[in-house]
Amino acid sequence: MRTDAGPHLFRDLGLSELLEWLYETHGFDFRNYRAPTLERRISRRLYLTGAKSYGEYLARLKETPAELTRLLEDLTIKVSRFFRDAPMFERLARDVLPTLLSGRGRGRDRSFRAWCAGCANGEEVYSLAILVEETIRHRHARLRVTIHGTDLDDKALRTARAGFYSEGVLNEMPHGYLKAYFDRRGDDFVVREGLRRHVHFSRYDLTSRRSLSPPGGVFADYDLIFCRNVLIYYDLPLQERIVSKFTKVLAPGGVLVLGTAEHIPLPVAPMFEAVSRRWKIFRRLSDAPPTPIFREVIGR
Ligand SMILES: C[S@@+](CC[C@H](N)C(=O)[O-])C[C@H]1O[C@@H](n2cnc3c(N)ncnc32)[C@H](O)[C@@H]1O
Repeated sequence: MRTDAGPHLFRDLGLSELLEWLYETHGFDFRNYRAPTLERRISRRLYLTGAKSYGEYLARLKETPAELTRLLEDLTIKVSRFFRDAPMFERLARDVLPTLLSGRGRGRDRSFRAWCAGCANGEEVYSLAILVEETIRHRHARLRVTIHGTDLDDKALRTARAGFYSEGVLNEMPHGYLKAYFDRRGDDFVVREGLRRHVHFSRYDLTSRRSLSPPGGVFADYDLIFCRNVLIYYDLPLQERIVSKFTKVLAPGGVLVLGTAEHIPLPVAPMFEAVSRRWKIFRRLSDAPPTPIFREVIGR
């Protein structure tokens, strides 16, 4: 058994073994998930399958691929909404995006890059794409916009790529945006090509030690990173590792947005200033020195 499973040395051995198996055989690393969340979700699967122990449940998992799919569904919460936390998006549209995009589209500064880490079914990616499109449309800027949406969950990524959403999911979408950026297909709506050309979806595990950002984004300085309602599932050391990655791939002056219940971990906090504490919008300082955890993450 690997020994770098993190701080849960006293976790139930059966559970540790199950987590190691998930990691070793399928590459899903839940070893640093917050213990109460993890135990609650896996206990539910034990109850529903009638397994009496983690060991018994692991044996079942090995025999039944469908149970593995169900477990992964339960462990990765994919709740999201278009324009979730509307006042945060308003703030973004009112001053963050205009500042980030100011002067872009002229001379050599012709691109804008964003990353939505843990994008679930794509709602957040398309919401951001709409706001960027609205901002540059009003400024007549000629800009190459790239928004990378990444998630751990392949099913969610398939939904995101398809860009099909039911009327219910689009309930809170302002009518003008619905009209401008979606076509009706029966009872559903599909994202128009004009918006879709800005977005790219790929699988990327934020806990990965092998790379800092999604494929295609490694050396690109991101102007904006969203990582909302993902950190809450992880313990503090892993939250630090994830946010430290962002410090490496965010351009100086670039902006990081977390979920409203989330915080910048203390060791990396000196690298950011708050744009809005309420809406967890932070700007990466241009002259912040790398912190020790930062050096550890980038392997120097
Ligand atoms: C609750 S949803 C949040 C969706 C969206 N960011 C929002 O705030 O509406 C959390 C998402 O994070 C993804 N996730 C969890 N752990 C992850 C990891 N290690 N790497 C990438 N995505 C992860 C889950 O699959 C899920 O889609």
